[in-house]
Amino acid sequence: MTVQEVSEMRRVPIRNDGERLQPRLPLEELNADGGLLPFVYPNGVPGYMTTTAEDFRNILGDPRFHAKRFLGEPQPGPVSVEVPDMPGFIPSMNGPEHLAVRRLAAGDFSVKAVQKLEPVIDEVVTKYLDQTQAHGSPVDLFESYNLPIPSEVIAKILGVPTTHTPEFQLAARLTIGGLPDEIEDPMAPAKAVARLHELIGEIIQLKRANPEDDLITRLTQATNPVVSDQEIWGLCTNLLLAGHETTSTSGAFAIAILLERPEAREYFLSHLDRTPEMVEELIRYVFMVTDSGGGIPRLATEDVEYGGMTIHKGEWVMPCVGTANADPTVCPHGATQLDLAREDILGHHLTFGFGPHTCLGQHLARAELKVIIPKVFERFPNVQLLTPVNELPWLDKGFGYRMAELPVSF
Ligand code: HEM
Repeated sequence: MTVQEVSEMRRVPIRNDGERLQPRLPLEELNADGGLLPFVYPNGVPGYMTTTAEDFRNILGDPRFHAKRFLGEPQPGPVSVEVPDMPGFIPSMNGPEHLAVRRLAAGDFSVKAVQKLEPVIDEVVTKYLDQTQAHGSPVDLFESYNLPIPSEVIAKILGVPTTHTPEFQLAARLTIGGLPDEIEDPMAPAKAVARLHELIGEIIQLKRANPEDDLITRLTQATNPVVSDQEIWGLCTNLLLAGHETTSTSGAFAIAILLERPEAREYFLSHLDRTPEMVEELIRYVFMVTDSGGGIPRLATEDVEYGGMTIHKGEWVMPCVGTANADPTVCPHGATQLDLAREDILGHHLTFGFGPHTCLGQHLARAELKVIIPKVFERFPNVQLLTPVNELPWLDKGFGYRMAELPVSF
């Protein structure tokens, strides 16, 4: 794109009118325009946004577009976040090198491995339900329940000793978990990542001395390929960053929807035998609503002819979950509406991405959300929002758009 072309481009049309449960992007309009649309992203970087599910899959499945995330160079996104370069950080790796490192962790996130983890998930969820109950009503459910659960589950998979777990969770939180003051500091994520690396370094030494049945031990023992300590830091940091905030926010958002919409709550609670399908529809809806178009950056590594245009080497394309999840081919019946009765949802949305970087933790995320969402209504049958969803404080910096509080009574 030339400077002239960039200066004439539209900015990403992100709505900011406080309507939390409405899509942030004009999805139907973007879907109707179709193809790849050029935009200037909120941090001033130009890129092409995908509008259809087909384009989403095509770009993410095309090895000429590289994943290159959070590596300091300007890239399209809600804002630029400075995180240092990290070997082993698979969202920024490509080709065979990416696959080799991804495979080292993949076994711990397979359907079978996640099934084995179900008692652990139940135990962690019960712990935070108990703590919430002990705190008493009213409570910030996001802080006391949704926020700590995913990082504690990841800590257990990695083998973080319980002595280190609180600091590990704090580092996760400071990195992307959403404390407004820290996030004002553009270096806050980098500082928290540095502390996380120190912690993981200590844990690696502990595991070398006393091997256990956990992922960090397995990584220290890997031979094909051998993994350096720096790569273990990168991979563990990735797992924590990728799995913590996404699962915390989507669980809290889904609970907020059910609290705000009595008919959806009633349907959900009277159809608990359909929990997997309903959770799937909630995940589709949440990521369709919250997407600001900047979640999955890809960089063209050569000139690519696509859809009648040339995407030049060095230009960004942003596969957009919001538009893909609202594509009528993904959800033919009223795609922009929440429909908990939907039968055809399993495997029919693109929230977890597509192609070689498709979410490694998706089975874990589903397993957690299937417990996190219904259990809160089971434990606290009278749970109510204290503040309408549209008036809740929201964070719109750092790694994205997310809930800051969920005050409830029970
Ligand atoms: C609702 C929760 C989640 C959502 C919506 C989500 C979404 C995504 C998406 C869209 C990608 C692809 C990014 C890209 O192509 O650049 C991704 C990648 C990834 N996710 Fe998730 N994720 C969730 C939970 C988790 C959990 C619980 C974990 C594990 C602890 C996890 C680990 C990862 C990893 C390691 C990658 C990078 C894979 C790679 O680059 O090969 N995610 N996630």
